[in-house]
Amino acid sequence: MSDVITLKAVRSTPAPEGVAVRTLKTEHQAVCQVLNVLDKAVLKLEETGEAPLAIFEDVLEFLTVFVDACHHTKEEEVLFPLMGRAGVPSRGGPIGVMLAEHQEGRELIARYRASLAALKGGDPSTQAALIEAARAYSALLRQHIQKENNVLFAIADRLFDSETQQEIFESFEEIEVTKLGAGTHERLHGKIEQMVEATAGWPGAEAGPGSAGCSCACH
Ligand SMILES: [Fe+2]
Repeated sequence: MSDVITLKAVRSTPAPEGVAVRTLKTEHQAVCQVLNVLDKAVLKLEETGEAPLAIFEDVLEFLTVFVDACHHTKEEEVLFPLMGRAGVPSRGGPIGVMLAEHQEGRELIARYRASLAALKGGDPSTQAALIEAARAYSALLRQHIQKENNVLFAIADRLFDSETQQEIFESFEEIEVTKLGAGTHERLHGKIEQMVEATAGWPGAEAGPGSAGCSCACH
């Protein structure tokens, strides 16, 4: 399938949302909640000079395990290759852009992790680097989610019927077990609630679902 045909598919009447796409969009909502928590932690650090280390740690675990090891793996190992086989160009097209942004996110997370470790080790000079990496990651993921929700997933819904979406969903479930281990997904969802509660009332957009500060169009 050429780029032209792919774009036509997006512009024509939207296909019904399949279970695989719905699963990834629901995960995006969870990611957006955590990005709102992260934005609040950054503001807190900037305004008080004191880093809410526990929140930065919990956000880092979520971004590493839930977002990268699980969510991005579902896209990179299952959805994108199937879309490639269905004719969506995997280089230079929308999939190539998504893969490049996943990699950019990994590099920012590495900087976030290193800055946080140095800060915890008593080096306050790394505050600025942590703020910069966290802000860049949050901005990257928000626009990335918008593109996936509005462009790539619309293509997937046009390409895959409900039976195929069910098969994709089952592959996602296998990744949950192999990459995260049983119970980890639920534990991390519990962590989101704890983080939202812990940062309630902090300056910044409220972190809960549907919050006005979320610009990801993830709802
Ligand atoms: Fe995604």
